[in-house]
Amino acid sequence: MDSSAPIGIFDSGIGGMTVARAVKDILANEQIVYFGDTAHLPYGDKSAATIQAYSIKITDVLLKRGCKVILIACNSASSAAFELVKEYAGSKAKVFNVVDPMVDYVREQYSDTRIGLIGTKQTVSSGVYRDKIEATNKGLQLTSLATPLLVPMIEESFIHNQISEEIIKLYLQNEELKDIKALILACTHYPLIIDDINKFYQGKIEVIDSSIIVARSLKAYLEYNNLLSKKKSGEDQFLVSDYTDSFEQTTKLFFGQVVHLEKHTLWE
Ligand code: DGL
Repeated sequence: MDSSAPIGIFDSGIGGMTVARAVKDILANEQIVYFGDTAHLPYGDKSAATIQAYSIKITDVLLKRGCKVILIACNSASSAAFELVKEYAGSKAKVFNVVDPMVDYVREQYSDTRIGLIGTKQTVSSGVYRDKIEATNKGLQLTSLATPLLVPMIEESFIHNQISEEIIKLYLQNEELKDIKALILACTHYPLIIDDINKFYQGKIEVIDSSIIVARSLKAYLEYNNLLSKKKSGEDQFLVSDYTDSFEQTTKLFFGQVVHLEKHTLWE
C-alpha cells in the first residue's frame, strides 16, 4: 500500500467533518478525501439496508480516488454498514469505523460499571455498541438513549441558548442514563455541544468525544503499519452528493473554517 495515498472519510453529511478535523489536527501530512452524502442525510432515521447501499456507493468513490484507508465517520453508518464496507474494500483499503476505537477506550478505562450512550435512532437500535462493549467481559453494562432532536438543532446552529440547554437537560435526565460513570457521544454532531453536556454533569462523569479517540487510533494504525505519509501529496478534497450554499456554510461549524464543497453525484 502507498503511504502517500489519501485517507478517505465519509459521513451522511457535513457533521463528519468533526472527525476529519480531529484527523487533520494530529495527522497534518495526510491528504484527506471527504465525502458527505448530503443528498441522503440524515442516516440516523433510515433502515440499515438503505444506509448499506449508500455506504457501498461512497466506498466505490473513495476507492477510485486511491484511498489507503476508509474511515466511516458516521456512527449510524458504522453501526449499519461496517462489515459490508470492509468486505467490499477487501485488500484495497483498510476500513475503520468509529465504534471499535471507542470500545477499546472504554475497555481500557472502565470495569464493572454502567456506561451511557447517546446517538441517533439507527445507532441505538442497532445495538452494535452494546454488543461490543458487553463482549469485552469487563462487567460493563451499556445503556443507550436515542436523542434525535440534537442533530437538526446543532445543524441549525441552534445551540448554547436557554432552549437548547433545556432539550439537552431533558434528554440527559432520562431514566435510561441514571447512575452512569461515563457518557459516549456516539454521533458526529455532539462534540459541538460537549460543553453543555459537561455543564450538566458538572465533572461528575467522563463525557467521551469519539472524534479524538478515533483520530488517535487511526494514527496508531498508520504508525504501526508504516503507512504515515511523509509529505502531503495533494490538496484535501471535500465531495458532497448534493450541493447548496447552506451546506458549504455549515462546514465552518463542523470544521472550523469554510471549505469549498465539490458536487459528486452518487447515482447518474
Ligand atoms: N452522522 C450521523 C451519525 O453520526 C448523524 C447525522 C445523521 O443522522 O445523518 O450518526
